[in-house]
Amino acid sequence: MLLTRRIPSATFAKLQAGADVDLYDGPTPIAEVELKRRLTDKHGLICVLNDRISADVLAAAPNLKVVANIAVGFDNIDVTAARSRNIVVTNTPDVLTNATAELTWALILSLTRRVTEGDRLVRRNGWKGWTLDFMLGTELRGKQLGIIGRGRIGRAVAEKAPAFGMHAVFAARGGRSAADLPEMSLDELLISSDVISLHTPMTAENRHLIDRKALARMKRTAFLINTARGPIIDEEALAWALQERLIAGAALDVYEREPEVRPALLEMENVVLAPHLGSATRETRTAMIELAVDNALAVVRGRPALTPVG
Ligand code: GLV
Repeated sequence: MLLTRRIPSATFAKLQAGADVDLYDGPTPIAEVELKRRLTDKHGLICVLNDRISADVLAAAPNLKVVANIAVGFDNIDVTAARSRNIVVTNTPDVLTNATAELTWALILSLTRRVTEGDRLVRRNGWKGWTLDFMLGTELRGKQLGIIGRGRIGRAVAEKAPAFGMHAVFAARGGRSAADLPEMSLDELLISSDVISLHTPMTAENRHLIDRKALARMKRTAFLINTARGPIIDEEALAWALQERLIAGAALDVYEREPEVRPALLEMENVVLAPHLGSATRETRTAMIELAVDNALAVVRGRPALTPVG
């Protein structure tokens, strides 16, 4: 079993009890050539979202039976190539739903109440004292939260909306309409929502779903939140929309070319930038690692995976 990151000792011990483990322990993500070299004799791979598991990498792993991603998203893995080689791909759904929903709300509140902007001001000694009209934000109560993505995380974000007096609606975008959810067309959602939050997987269809045209449809007072995947937003278009004041602000946890952040976004006070922290709580990361290990061990032992994708 190849493991591309160090994991907590209790889970590592469990993995070692069930398989011979080759741990890549380098300071930077494993290089493709090293990944291929180490995979030549492996039956299992446990990896993370910044390991790119391409068709080429899979072709270098003739004995591979399972790729267990420690992430719910799996756009870093060529799932079609894996399937054609009978390699099972697994992810870590459910265990990170709440953590990601909580981070989404942290971003919504930071952005609308200007928390990170205020923090920067205080730190540079720029606060001159309380005044009636100082750093006024936007109240959430009575506003519409537009959610794009009807999966677990989008629903968990919506569940917390009533606590803030917000009304959540979902974008109906093909597929079966979800009878239990308040839905409207994507265009209607774009033009009528006060906060728009993205919770779709990264697929070819969702690439640059939020482009210039979509941003121009949003209210000038609306805020955009992304805790899904960077390329769902055309970042160049987002910078343009913010510069043109077509929307009120954005909070991002994910980027088109992580860990790079578009310089224009770094300059803007009405942009909250988090370093891909959606699932980054102790509780959730422990559960994700545990689930990935259980998935990998199940498949190498000839049993069904717990959470296969597709
Ligand atoms: C994090 O981004 C994940 O997909 O788990």
